[in-house]
Amino acid sequence: MWGEQPSCSPHCYISSQGTSLIRDRWATKTGLILALAGNAIGLGNFLRFPGQAAANGGGAFMIPYFLSLLLIGIPLMWAECAMGRYGGRFGHGHTAGIFHRLWPHPISKYIGVFGIFIPFTVALYYIPITSWCLAFSWFSFSGAYEGLVTRAEIGDFLKAFQGWESNAHFHGRGALYFFFLLTLALNLMILTGGIARGIERFAKLALPALFGLAVVLVIRVLTLSPPAGAGPDQTVLSGLGFVWNPDLRLLGDWKVWMSAAGQVFFTISVGWGIIHTYTSYLGPDDDVALTGLSTVSLNEFAEIVLGGTIAITASVVFFGIIATQDIVAGGTFDLGFQAMAIIFQQLPFGSLLGGIWFLLLFFAGLTSAVAITQPAVALIQEGFGVTRGRAVALVGLALLTLSVPALWWRGVLDELDFWAGTFALLLFGFAEAVIFGWIFGIERGWREITRGADIRVPAIVKPVLKYVTPVFLGAILLGFVFQSLGGPLESAPWQIWGARGLMLAIFIGLASMVRVALRASPTEDA
Ligand code: PHE
Repeated sequence: MWGEQPSCSPHCYISSQGTSLIRDRWATKTGLILALAGNAIGLGNFLRFPGQAAANGGGAFMIPYFLSLLLIGIPLMWAECAMGRYGGRFGHGHTAGIFHRLWPHPISKYIGVFGIFIPFTVALYYIPITSWCLAFSWFSFSGAYEGLVTRAEIGDFLKAFQGWESNAHFHGRGALYFFFLLTLALNLMILTGGIARGIERFAKLALPALFGLAVVLVIRVLTLSPPAGAGPDQTVLSGLGFVWNPDLRLLGDWKVWMSAAGQVFFTISVGWGIIHTYTSYLGPDDDVALTGLSTVSLNEFAEIVLGGTIAITASVVFFGIIATQDIVAGGTFDLGFQAMAIIFQQLPFGSLLGGIWFLLLFFAGLTSAVAITQPAVALIQEGFGVTRGRAVALVGLALLTLSVPALWWRGVLDELDFWAGTFALLLFGFAEAVIFGWIFGIERGWREITRGADIRVPAIVKPVLKYVTPVFLGAILLGFVFQSLGGPLESAPWQIWGARGLMLAIFIGLASMVRVALRASPTEDA
């Protein structure tokens, strides 16, 4: 909470205007870890991971995946936690301010703008998708799509709901906007409560609920029996085998390595600016080492054990391996929204199970949605001395208006996801690895990571963070530039150019705000 304080210790910092201000803090360590895990565990764990693993050689994908996790993911997670706590000492809850302190150079704050730009831009489509999960949970509980048992039928239902075409199920975008506004309102309500009384309190409820729902589904999926007339490959074991049997030939394919690194960034939420924001609300000597590791561990449990079991296994048992491959190739939505909706209808208490599946996705999405909304709130609140309530309202208004293109124009969602949700993550991750290990300096960085630590961080992490992380990440980034940038830069329809213009405008807008916000913020004392 914000307010003038007579003295400045230990929960406050000196603002750029010279006044001492008290900052929001996490109330408990468990709360912080649940909030961080809630941010990390998202749609990426339950939809994106199984799809990526299955499409990239199954068990073979796990080799680059774990290497990326060990050599890039976990080291960067620790670095981000340390940077966030460091920036919080100066009252900064966004990477523009934090980088400005780590590296007193005029350019650093603009690099930091990426840590506000990425989450805000992703929020423009992540919040709508989260709202579709809520909608489908309701549709399942209420039996709205009961009887639609082919992928084509459910596909039409989804398209009509999204407003792409009108049919017997929906006319116009009324239902779409109802669930979107509801989800956005919930998100803003949680953020209005602040760090401890909003985000932390919500995570303490939502995360246990999420794990509970997921465990129910895992048990149900592992006890599935094949439908009548099923082929010999339609078993739970072959479903698990589809995700886990290694196709080692694919290890030589650069794309598999990029997909694995990309999935690690996406799922543990590094390279977004979010971890910095969350850990900026720690005290100067609070642990970051155990916090970072617990976050990754909880996320990996949710990803590999829970996410790796539910959707794919269910799909293999019901449709067989060939059809599942086909569904996965169609995109993660086809798996989550179409295949799962059909499968649960075939089971006793199907509408209940389907409702649980989409509710699980909704909880996973909402705890992530609050996280990606917070950096922009922090920028407005801190940079312009606006109250939290007003800052949340302003960001909410911006999200409401700017998400219109993502909701109304086809292809915009994918375009935002490609540039902000994939490419920018790798770029920002690379930049922060260099700033932390080379400019701020690995010695100071190491002291920040280990200060107040509740576990001993292995000494090997220090050279890994300095050399291996930026080199490995740099190589992946180069590969990405050569392999993936050609296609998207070819001629594109006007909506796609519109989306690119929108992203540029958002970046310039945020950069101008950062410029003003940090104008009176000297770094000599850093
Ligand atoms: N990690 C989330 C997921 O797996 C995505 C996300 C990243 C959410 C960063 C918030 C912040 O879906």
